[in-house]
Amino acid sequence: MKNLFIILTLLLFTSSVYAEEFLLSTPRTSLLLTGEKDGQLYLHYFGRRVLDPSDIWNSGNGMLYREAYPQFGLDCTLEPAMAVMYPDGNLSLDLRFQKAENIKGNHSDEWKFYLKDAVYPLEVTLHYRIYHDEDIIENWAGYQYSGKGFVELRQFASAYMPLPPGQYTMQHLHGSWASEHQMEEEILTHGSKILVNRDGVRNALTDHPSVMLGRNGLEENTGDVYAGILAWSGNYKINCTLDNSHRLHLIAGIDNFQSEYKLSKGETFVTPAWVMSYSNKGKGEISRTFHRWARKYALAHGEQKRDILLNSWEGLYFNVNMKDVCRMINDFSGLGGEIFVLDDGWFGKKYSRDSDRSSLGDWEVSPGKLPDGLQALIDSCKCASIRFGIWIEPEMTNTISELYEQHPDWVISQPNRPLKKGRGGNQLVLDLSNPKVQDFIFGVVDKLMTQYPEIAYIKWDANMSLANYGSNYLPANKQSHLYIEYHRGLRKVLQRIRAKYPDLLMQACASGGGRISYGILPYFDEFWTSDDTDAIERIYMQWGASQFYPAIAMGSHVSAARNHQTNKLIPLKFRFDVAMSGRLGMEMQPKDFTPDEYKFAAQAISTYKQIRPVVQLGDLYRLISPYAQKNISSLMYVTPDKEEAVLFVYQLKHRFNPSFPILTLQGLSPDASYEICEINTADLKEQAGKTITGGFLMDQGIEVWLDKEYDSKIYHLKKTK
Ligand code: DGJ
Repeated sequence: MKNLFIILTLLLFTSSVYAEEFLLSTPRTSLLLTGEKDGQLYLHYFGRRVLDPSDIWNSGNGMLYREAYPQFGLDCTLEPAMAVMYPDGNLSLDLRFQKAENIKGNHSDEWKFYLKDAVYPLEVTLHYRIYHDEDIIENWAGYQYSGKGFVELRQFASAYMPLPPGQYTMQHLHGSWASEHQMEEEILTHGSKILVNRDGVRNALTDHPSVMLGRNGLEENTGDVYAGILAWSGNYKINCTLDNSHRLHLIAGIDNFQSEYKLSKGETFVTPAWVMSYSNKGKGEISRTFHRWARKYALAHGEQKRDILLNSWEGLYFNVNMKDVCRMINDFSGLGGEIFVLDDGWFGKKYSRDSDRSSLGDWEVSPGKLPDGLQALIDSCKCASIRFGIWIEPEMTNTISELYEQHPDWVISQPNRPLKKGRGGNQLVLDLSNPKVQDFIFGVVDKLMTQYPEIAYIKWDANMSLANYGSNYLPANKQSHLYIEYHRGLRKVLQRIRAKYPDLLMQACASGGGRISYGILPYFDEFWTSDDTDAIERIYMQWGASQFYPAIAMGSHVSAARNHQTNKLIPLKFRFDVAMSGRLGMEMQPKDFTPDEYKFAAQAISTYKQIRPVVQLGDLYRLISPYAQKNISSLMYVTPDKEEAVLFVYQLKHRFNPSFPILTLQGLSPDASYEICEINTADLKEQAGKTITGGFLMDQGIEVWLDKEYDSKIYHLKKTK
């Protein structure tokens, strides 16, 4: 193997003399490719920014190992990014570099590398989008076939990334319903570690389509970290293979299992983008990069502050009725709330949605539950000076529904087999590959918005995985396209909604946090982080989600005590202090508050309004991880101009006589002085501020006393000079 490397490196050195070099750079990272007409396109380097490729060559870092887009055929031993079968049965590919093109844009440049099979009429374009202001590179591929019949795509990854030798630690997010986004970390041994998701509908409910890879350790503030996330909402596969020479080969894309794709003449197959970043300053910097990029480019209205909302689910469940809903609206308005969202249970004319057994698809108000219709609720919100939002689950139906009675052929199902049903024993998934179904789903939103233009917010849920694999719409020879066509159909619907209703706020929910994914987030303003609203559990889940997703998108709600998922009794202050580190909301009956609790909640909401720009638009610094088993956890946000910061500290477990850790803050301006004030205090008393320099806070830190169970503190820091 060693000899092979020497030969390859020599070859590289020789080839680099003749081949054209392409250095693609973001503010702090560079990617180096070389290509020679009708030869191979090679990817040599991804790492710290260089001004000139000579640093890469002279240091030996230009690790020629494989092509920029490895194919199965000539090289057959390693995992390929692409594999096909041509109509004559030929299973091999030989893609040769033709030319490169750089299309300059306002925020990013797009590089296109054109490749062509040496013999067959197949063209592959490899794309790299290089952002000017963030260390983010998007990598994807497009295929065009101009021959007879079709070429069968058998492997169609978005990206291949070779990483330099090292001991790699992989961190990824895993979870299940009510315990999503748990951080898991492992040292990779030789061989392959594959992250795969085959839910078909929601691709973050188990493993997320993202990964962080630390080279020689994985730390928050130091060390080389390579990270990536697949911007796709469906099944995916991320393959990390550590070879004999300790190099890591990452191949990421749509999962190809049962998804062979027949590409015909005139059609272009475009893979989703693999969005990647590199930092030599640890995971923290990577997360901040992804957050800033998301707010600017990958989240609807990413730079607009979010309203404080009350969702009716845990307060009412299916027991939706005029009296209770109006009471909720008024109580929430009295607290200073800004938007009310009516969750499940409001619809179904023929079959009223009284449980999860019926009515999905029948998106008309249930006359028995809301005899005065939705307008009465919207008017009631208007009177209370808050906005109105509503829940739908438009990709689904129930066997007990008018929709299913009229269109049984619209569900994903197989001929000649009994249906496997989902939630409530009757749920089925609509076949989004079918344009009629796409029209119907678009129509659900369009009708609601036409009838009630004052709807400001839609919570879009999805509570079933794709079962009964089979489409009544796709032809027999294209049944294997369903996993892909489902998500293409979904994207088409979302694009139509966004084109017609650009100001509508939308939340991506999928049995809780099942759709936290940049494949879907560009169409949504935020996600529902989890159905588990227990504040302690949320500290772990929100920490996990924060690895890639910004606080502005993270729905975090205060719910009842006892908590409905864990039965825990957690004080209201702690519940607010945790929810205030994301997009604050509530998920309970405010009428159940005692007068003191009501007063506290009103204060917390007003306090959140003061710190909202810092939390929602600031840079996140994670100080003490809940996963570090130190009994406490702490994080802070700092405004980009470093004028303000907010520090959150939580006691996770109360131990007698603990040693209080000194918190060394981050992200402040070292020469400036900051006034630090504890806010959201349990006794509602204003605290006098103390002034400390940023440098001292970051080097020596401050001691925070947490001395009882479920103690928590929030500090607001403001620059004084
Ligand atoms: C699952 C969601 O995660 C919940 O928040 C709620 O909307 C229910 N569905 C309603 O059925």
